Amino acid sequence: MKHFLLLAPLLIGAACRSAPQSNAPSTRMDPHSYAEPDRVRVTHLDLELTLDFESQTAAGQAALALDRRDPDAPVILDTLGLVIESVTGQDGGARTFELGPGDEGFGQPLTVELEPGDSVIRIRYRTTANSAALQWLAPEQTAGKEHPFLFTQGQAILTRSWIPLQDSPGVRISYAARIHAPEALTVVMSAEQLGRDGDGAFRFVLQQPIPPYLIALACGDIETRAISERCAVWAEPSVTGSAHSEFADTEAMIQSAEKLFGPYRWGRYDLIILPPAFPYGGMENPLLTFVTPTVLAGDRSLVSLVAHELAHSWSGNLVTNATWRDFWLNEGFTVYFEQRIMEEVYGKDRSDLEKLLAFEGLEREIAAAEPWATVLHLDLAGRHPDEGFSGIPYEKGALFLRRLEEIFGRETFDEFLRSWFDEHAFQSVTTATFEEFLAERLLARAPELAAKIDVHEWIHEPGLPADAPRPTSGAIAAVDAEVARWQAGTSPAELATSSWVTQQWLHFLEHLPEDMSAERMAALDTEFAFTESSNSEILCVWLELGIRHGYTASDARLERFLMTVGRRKFLQPLYKELVQTEAGTARARAIYARARPRYHAVSTGTLDGIVLGK
Ligand code: BES
Ligand code: ZN
Repeated sequence: MKHFLLLAPLLIGAACRSAPQSNAPSTRMDPHSYAEPDRVRVTHLDLELTLDFESQTAAGQAALALDRRDPDAPVILDTLGLVIESVTGQDGGARTFELGPGDEGFGQPLTVELEPGDSVIRIRYRTTANSAALQWLAPEQTAGKEHPFLFTQGQAILTRSWIPLQDSPGVRISYAARIHAPEALTVVMSAEQLGRDGDGAFRFVLQQPIPPYLIALACGDIETRAISERCAVWAEPSVTGSAHSEFADTEAMIQSAEKLFGPYRWGRYDLIILPPAFPYGGMENPLLTFVTPTVLAGDRSLVSLVAHELAHSWSGNLVTNATWRDFWLNEGFTVYFEQRIMEEVYGKDRSDLEKLLAFEGLEREIAAAEPWATVLHLDLAGRHPDEGFSGIPYEKGALFLRRLEEIFGRETFDEFLRSWFDEHAFQSVTTATFEEFLAERLLARAPELAAKIDVHEWIHEPGLPADAPRPTSGAIAAVDAEVARWQAGTSPAELATSSWVTQQWLHFLEHLPEDMSAERMAALDTEFAFTESSNSEILCVWLELGIRHGYTASDARLERFLMTVGRRKFLQPLYKELVQTEAGTARARAIYARARPRYHAVSTGTLDGIVLGK
């Protein structure tokens, strides 16, 4: 343990040569963190934890290296659902600490009084059932059904629930870890793997400074299989084969991403396929993207998710939103970048198709959202970051960049983006920083082009600006024609669908008439077997229609889906649809009572409101 701390400054020094301004003071406090990093700032974490699946706790210690800008100030950390056992200083002596008043979402500040010589403090602690980042899975929730599984989800502000630290994306740290796990289980983290110590602990180090929400861990009966020299999949043994073939294009994606926006700066790029309880589609944990198994469609039709998480290696992990108000800088840039990678690897037709589908989704979302939530630079004062989570920062953000590309030309815009990433590498940035960079490095250089866009409207006003570039896709026009024929009485078997890809089917299902009968759904199901679809995106839309139109033949499939899948993006619309009627509400509550213990806190946080009215 100790040698890591000695090593750490050297490692940080090495990383800093290419990242001169990392850890620059944030200009503005983060409203979602209790920390005061302008006074005392955490710069490095040394973590040692033991995972106990029986008690479902992680216990051990976090040693934090401190940059004491104000020598008289205490250090203030974020915690949520942690039991703090002791705090010691550099000399090993006890330090006075206090857990302040708590908040259900933000947790409790941990204030530690420092002695003059303290450039490191050591906190002994353990997690509790309220440690919302952690999800402990029973063997039955895994593919193998034999061993338990654990994973963490840090974004946005859950890292504080398994590690006491300054949980703000503006406070970048390097980290090292030693993790003890039961025999038979393997531990992976969002870091370089250093193998196992003599005592069996798994050892990790990440030299590049990252925001705390990117610290991640998974533990289970997992194995790895190489895709290329620097890229592999991790999965439970029964999943490895299908994951390996689904994601075989990942190396090609990395190469096209590098060609577009500069070198991949993290060494390896691995994927881990988690059990279906994982609450997100994907999470861009550095060196090790976390992925839901619901993208394993068998035909690579949902791999844009990998392009997306990979793109975060630039937009998000290299250049990070400084606060959650600036979330669109992470996600909007990433969607734009994802679509460029998809175009490069799979061609323009596929990326146009995906863009159009996303655009239609955005229009629906903006129509239903409150105006504040449709602004790119979010007003999150008094709100949990999760309240700002929607498709809007993603798609509206990407459209803004696409509009800039359209005006200034691809070559100029690519060069601009590349310098944005290069010059802000390993920094956390605000929307204002981007606006300045944009004004100076793009707009001011061609005023006659700059006059074509109202940047302020795009970033600070609600709704979708009129100049948003609407994607077009011939493949979608073909689907519209078949929907019209079906409406006019053509039978499902006679529709020209044989060459359709997933996104065309999705568009088809999303454009069926509002007043469809259960009988017509049955006829479609007989021909196309939607209820048995192994494509989770298609299945989810179909199940939603089934609830809406009283198609009871899909009931059992719906229940099975809700009992196994924990991905919030799917659960949310399904439960929402169920609670539209009284009978549906009763059904939703009955299913939820059984399923809830299988969901991650991220999902129950949203679903409790929908199903239980909490
Ligand atoms: N970083 C996000 C997931 C996230 C966002 C977690 C905010 C917590 C708070 C990730 O990159 C993401 O956007 N995942 C999407 C998939 C993507 C293809 C749009 C998801 O999980 O659905
Ligand atoms: Zn993302």
